[in-house]
Amino acid sequence: MKQGHTILLGGIGGDSHSVGLTILRQSLSAHGYHVRYLGTQNQVSDFFRMAGMANLVMISSMDGHARYYLREFPSLKREFETKDTLWYLGGNLGSNNGSERDYLEMGFNRVFLNFIELETVLNTLARDLNGTEAVANYPALWEQSMPATHSLPGTASDALLDDETFESARREVLEQWKTGSGARGLASNAQFLLRQPSFPRIQAQTRMGQSKMLVQPRSGVALIGEQIRLFKNFKRAGVKVLSYQVDSLTRNNNYVGAEEAIRESSLSGTSTINGFPVVNHGVTGLRRIAQQIHLPLQTRHSTRDPRLLAEISYAGGVTSFEGGAICYNIPYYKDYPLAESVRKWQYVDYLTGLYHKRFGVVLDREFFGTLTATLIPPCIAIVTNILETLLAVRQGVKCVSLGYAEQGHRSQDIAAIRMMGEITSEILDNMGYKDVQLNTVFHQYMAAFPPCQDRADELIRNSAVTAAHSGATRMIGKTPVEAFRIPTLTDNITGIELIHSGLAAAADCYVDEARVAAECAVIRREVEAIFESIILCGHGDIAQGVVTAFAKGLIDIPFSPSVHNCGEVMTTRDVEGAVRFLSFGHLQLDRETRQFHDDKISERRRAEGIHSPSQDPILVERDVMQVAGCRYNHWPLSQ
Ligand code: 5AD
Repeated sequence: MKQGHTILLGGIGGDSHSVGLTILRQSLSAHGYHVRYLGTQNQVSDFFRMAGMANLVMISSMDGHARYYLREFPSLKREFETKDTLWYLGGNLGSNNGSERDYLEMGFNRVFLNFIELETVLNTLARDLNGTEAVANYPALWEQSMPATHSLPGTASDALLDDETFESARREVLEQWKTGSGARGLASNAQFLLRQPSFPRIQAQTRMGQSKMLVQPRSGVALIGEQIRLFKNFKRAGVKVLSYQVDSLTRNNNYVGAEEAIRESSLSGTSTINGFPVVNHGVTGLRRIAQQIHLPLQTRHSTRDPRLLAEISYAGGVTSFEGGAICYNIPYYKDYPLAESVRKWQYVDYLTGLYHKRFGVVLDREFFGTLTATLIPPCIAIVTNILETLLAVRQGVKCVSLGYAEQGHRSQDIAAIRMMGEITSEILDNMGYKDVQLNTVFHQYMAAFPPCQDRADELIRNSAVTAAHSGATRMIGKTPVEAFRIPTLTDNITGIELIHSGLAAAADCYVDEARVAAECAVIRREVEAIFESIILCGHGDIAQGVVTAFAKGLIDIPFSPSVHNCGEVMTTRDVEGAVRFLSFGHLQLDRETRQFHDDKISERRRAEGIHSPSQDPILVERDVMQVAGCRYNHWPLSQ
C-alpha cells in the first residue's frame, strides 16, 4: 500500500540541475505520496534532520562528487535514529566516484549509479514500501523543520536610480577587485567606446535589411592571447559579432580563484577554466582584444553580482552585456531573492543608460530568454524578456536584445520570435518609449544536445532554417560537440559552416504560415494575460510586480532550482512537438487557452497510451530524454 507514504526528496552538492528532481517530485505526488521537497544544493545533514518524519529519503547527486558530499553520511546515520527510514541515492554518481557497493555499505538501501527510468523508480518504491506503515503526516512540523535558509522575497521599485545612490554603490563596486579602479573614468571609457565597432549599430543595420542575420559563435578561454586567436579565426570565417563566455569562477565572483586559474593556464599552456575571466584581465586586457579584433564585442555570463563585470566590460570596449534580474537568477540560483537581483541589475542598466545620457554611447542589453532551456513555453520566455526590457529602459537603456531558445517545433519557434518582437515593441510604444532599439535573438536548441554527430549536424543546420524564417536579428550557434565538450576552434568553424548551409537553404524550405499565424495568436493571448496579471499584482510597479508575481506563481519557470519560483507549472510536448502546458500552476490564463492546452495534452496521452494523469510525468520524462537520447526522427520535431 503506497498511498500516503512520505518521501523526502532533494539534491546534494553545488549542482543547480533540477530537471530530474522536478519530474520526480511531480511524479511522486501524482502517485499519492506526500513529497517533502528540499530542492537542489542541500547538505547531507539537512536530510537527516528531517528523515525521521519520512518513510523514504531520496538523495540526488548530479556532478560526480557524491562521495565527497556524503562523507558524513555513515556517522550521521549512526547519530540519528532513522532505522525505519529507507535511503535511496541516485542521479549521476560518476563511474570513478564509488561503486554501488560502496554506497550500500555507507547505509543506502538502493543506489542508482546512472540515469534510470521513472517507472523503474516508481516500481522499486512500491515494492520497498509495500507492507510498511506510512508515517503520520504533520505539515506544520515539516514547515518548522525546513532549513531556514530561504530568504524573504523583499520589496523592489522600478523607479529610476539617482546619481547619488549610484555613485556611492559604484565606489564599492569598483573596489570589489583590484582591476575595478581601471574602469572609473566614465568619460575616457566613453571616448574609447565611441571608437569601437558597435553592437547596437550592426544590429540596427541588420534590422533595416542592410546586412544579413548575424551569426554568433561562443567561445571563452583563460588567456588573452588564445582568446584573440579564436576571435581572429572567427572573423576570418565571416563572423560579424563576437562574444566570450565568462568562466564559472568569475560568475561566482571568485576572482582569487580566477587569478590562480590564469596562472595555471599560462604555466600549462591550456585553459584550465571554462571561460574568459574578464574581471581579472581587467580593462587593459579587454582593450587589447578590442584593438586587435575590431568587431562588436559582448559579455555573456550568468553572474550573481554582475556590477563589476559590467563596469569592466564597458570600460574595455564591450558594447553589449547579457543578463537580467530574472533570467540570470531563477534558472541558476537556489536562494537569490529577486528583490536583490533586481537591484543589482538596475545598477547595470543605470550604468548602461548613463553612457548614453552623458556621452551619447548606445550600449546593448541582452536577456537570456532561454531560462532553464528545458521545455520552456514561448509565453514564459517572452514575458520574462518584456519585464527585463521594461526594467532596463526605465533606467535609461536604449538598445535591448530579447532572447528565445528554439524548442524544436518550427511554426511555434518562428511565432515565438516574431511575437516577442511585436508585443514588446507595442508595449514600449504604449508606455512612451519611442527611441529604444529592439532586437530578437534566436538561440539554437539549448537543452541537452544529441550525442550523435549526424543528429547534431542536422539540428544545427535545420535550426538555422527556422532562425532565418523567424526574422531574428541574430542567432547564437551551437557546435556538433555540444553534448561532449567545450568546442575547439575547429568545432566552432564546423558549427558556423553548418549554420551557413542552413541559412543558404532556408529560402527553399516551406514554412506553413497559417500554422505560424495560429501559434502567434495563442502566444499573444498567453503573454497578454500573464503580463497583465503581473502588472496588476505590482500595482503598476514592474519591479514589485516581478517579486510578487514569482512569489504567487503568476509567472513560474519550469524546472527552476530557485526557491523563489513556485515550480508548479509543468510542460510537455504535444503530438507534433510543440511545447504545451501540462499544469498551469497559478498562471492567469483564460479558459479558452487552458482548453487549448488540455486538448493538445489529451491527444498526446492518447497517442502514447497514457490513461491516467498520474502517469503524466512519464510524458515529461520522455520529452526531456528525447533529444539527448536521439529518440526522434528529424529536426525540427514538427516536420
Ligand atoms: N567556449 C565555448 N562555448 C561555451 N559555452 C559555454 N562556455 C563555453 C566556452 N568557454 C556554450 C555551451 C553552453 C552554452 C551556454 O554556451 O554551448 O551550452
